[in-house]
Amino acid sequence: MKGFSLLFPEKIIFGNGKLNELKNISIYGKNGLLITGKNFALKTGLIDRIINLLNDKNIFVFNNVEPEVSVETVDRAADIARKRKIDFIIGMGGGSALDCAKAVSGICKENYSVKDYLDNKIKIIKDPCFFIAIPTTAGTGSEVTKNAVLTYTEKDIKISLRSEKLIPSISILDPELTLTMPETVTAYTGMDALCHAVESFFSINANPFTKLVAKNSIKLIFKNLYKAYKNGKNLKARYNMLYASLLAGFSFANAGLGAVHGISHPVGAILKLPHGLINAMLLPYVLEFNKKIINKELKNLNKELQCDLIENIKKLNKKLKIPENFKKITKITEDKIDYIISKTEFKTGSMTFNPVKMDKNSVKQILQKVF
Ligand SMILES: [Fe+2]
Repeated sequence: MKGFSLLFPEKIIFGNGKLNELKNISIYGKNGLLITGKNFALKTGLIDRIINLLNDKNIFVFNNVEPEVSVETVDRAADIARKRKIDFIIGMGGGSALDCAKAVSGICKENYSVKDYLDNKIKIIKDPCFFIAIPTTAGTGSEVTKNAVLTYTEKDIKISLRSEKLIPSISILDPELTLTMPETVTAYTGMDALCHAVESFFSINANPFTKLVAKNSIKLIFKNLYKAYKNGKNLKARYNMLYASLLAGFSFANAGLGAVHGISHPVGAILKLPHGLINAMLLPYVLEFNKKIINKELKNLNKELQCDLIENIKKLNKKLKIPENFKKITKITEDKIDYIISKTEFKTGSMTFNPVKMDKNSVKQILQKVF
């Protein structure tokens, strides 16, 4: 039996209306930087709500995070943090806003570009800025992980800034904040959470704890994702989805992911499609590919879930209007497949945790099916 270690944020606050706890948290310093997406937080009034909750602090707002956030945006936000002598950072929104805020918290105490860290010229050594993560989607898991996924524009890749120091100091998960998520965002982020749970369950680095929470996450997503998609105001389904996403986050933060994420990052950087959509389409194909190694464990999981995992994922995709392959979305040439493979990272990150060892040929086999 292998041993294991587990990483968690210092504190997780979960529950309906729990955003209000923000005013009770003891935060050192006066100057805060709120990092969020372009439209969502403004439209929903959440920016004003946070400023009101922290009315004894000076909150500067950076609401310029784009989907699949770029290194340039991280550098712009980090510059603001340095110039304004920011004491703490709040990231609020989906995966991109949270990952941007997380990266800024890790790099803003030094004067380097985030690219210097991603190029391995330097490491995050200093303790990051106090960082509070507030997800408004149910899928990213970023609120409990040690990495921030960024688009490295000039290299045409998505890459993770990784350090145990990047784990948020505090995460506030309030299901009420997810009630306004549009249908497609509910579907894509929910399927991303399912990928986190399934991939970490079969990861070669999984341990008894990660398997337990991943399994529970899969069960909750199967029961609640379609309900939340069909009726966004269903608070019980939203609560269960945010909880499932948190469990999946715990699991993959400690066990790693697999080939779905390993392939989805270059596909996302090149085709500019949403992360959760790409993952949802890839998941059944990667599981079929992995079957030769995971078959026994898959059969046991199927028994416990009382369904066939792969077939159920396909059914769920259909109900969420996620196409079976990319043909319905975009045209992919053979050259493009080769380009995607050339940008795939095999030696580090998600791919290294896949139960079947992946190489260029295996990725090609999967891509030819899903494209
Ligand atoms: Fe993901």
